[in-house]
Amino acid sequence: MKVLVTGGAGYIGSHTVLSLLENNYDVVVYDNLCNSSVESLRRVEKLTGKSVKFIQGDICSKDDLTKVFNQFNIDAVIHFAALKAVGESAEIPLSYYQNNVHGTVCLLEVMQQQKVHNFIFSSSATVYGEESDVPYVETMKLGTPSSPYGASKVMVERVLADTANANKEFRGVSLRYFNPIGAHESGAIGEDPKGIPNNLLPYVAQVAVGKRDKLSIFGDDYPTQDGSCERDYLHVMDLAQGHVAALNWLNRNDEFRGVEAFNLGTGNGISVFAIVKAFEKAINKTIPFDVSPRRAGDLPAFWANASKANKELNWQATRSLEQMMADTWHWQSNNPNGYLV
Ligand code: NAD
Ligand code: WQD
Repeated sequence: MKVLVTGGAGYIGSHTVLSLLENNYDVVVYDNLCNSSVESLRRVEKLTGKSVKFIQGDICSKDDLTKVFNQFNIDAVIHFAALKAVGESAEIPLSYYQNNVHGTVCLLEVMQQQKVHNFIFSSSATVYGEESDVPYVETMKLGTPSSPYGASKVMVERVLADTANANKEFRGVSLRYFNPIGAHESGAIGEDPKGIPNNLLPYVAQVAVGKRDKLSIFGDDYPTQDGSCERDYLHVMDLAQGHVAALNWLNRNDEFRGVEAFNLGTGNGISVFAIVKAFEKAINKTIPFDVSPRRAGDLPAFWANASKANKELNWQATRSLEQMMADTWHWQSNNPNGYLV
């Protein structure tokens, strides 16, 4: 089976490409490299001993996408390509709607023309918005996220629902990721953010490797056990395997038409202080930090009810917090400058 992976050179994409190859799927990556390097795919090739077809292109170009579908016999699409920085999305919202919403519409239009109906979308826990009770469960209504980034994910989920209503062949899956962290156990691929990291783990890892002085913990006065925010962190290789599980589910369920959402998380909330402690334990070194004011838009605590994915996809996050920390460090210490060698 041939899978087109948009955004496949990025953090989650590259780990998923590796899992797909290990599970004997044939992969074509389509990425404009606006937030990634093709080096990630060269390393995936080394790790798997298999080759990855790579086409540099933008999902907003229907002409370029059409060429790819004409060149390869694509059976399914996994769609990672998007901009993802929550703060930046408030500064340049139109770029986010253009890239994430319009880009997805272009891709869906080309798929429809090409009669390719299997689609897996990178959604996010952010679609539950600010009002939902925890743990989040798929039966909850889509919420109203505060950021344009989050809104773009809600919009795409709506686009998918309408597409499925109109096109009776459509077979869509929305995977709602919680907080992916960590890296492949080889330490050869991992998360390589440009500039100052927005997310917690890349920031902690850069402090540990000496690239940043100290971590700022955004708020210790939340209504949680230790006052810092709690999130559902899951290992990126568990997440990668969730995509293989979703493809296998589509393949098993011939009759399925429509669009189905699945939470991918561990089901546990971990605080920022607990993350820092676990990282310190993994590297046997202290992480300097201070506590700064709350970051706008942060919710106190959320985690997944992942029982739907457990039951229907036969998928479960299996890697421990200790392994997430050790693998983050393995990647960061081997590659202090990411893919820039
Ligand atoms: P990433 O930035 O590492 O990967 C995204 C990839 O898409 C990059 O390689 C980038 O170059 C590419 N891309 C962006 N716009 C493109 C375009 N117009 N045309 C072609 N390629 C384009 O991000 P990631 O963390 O791997 O995230 C992958 C997906 O998962 C995104 O859709 C993101 O919104 C979603 N997601 C991520 C997280 C997270 O915490 N990392 C959580 C939930 C959902
Ligand atoms: C985690 C916790 C911060 C950095 C974001 C998106 C979400 C999803 C995943 C895509 C929070 C705290 C962070 C720092 C800190 N992405 N923190 N100091 O905000 O849960 O989720 O990424 O869909 O949509 O919003 O993840 O890693 O930014 O933060 O104290 O320097 O760490 O306040 O509590 P978040 P994060």
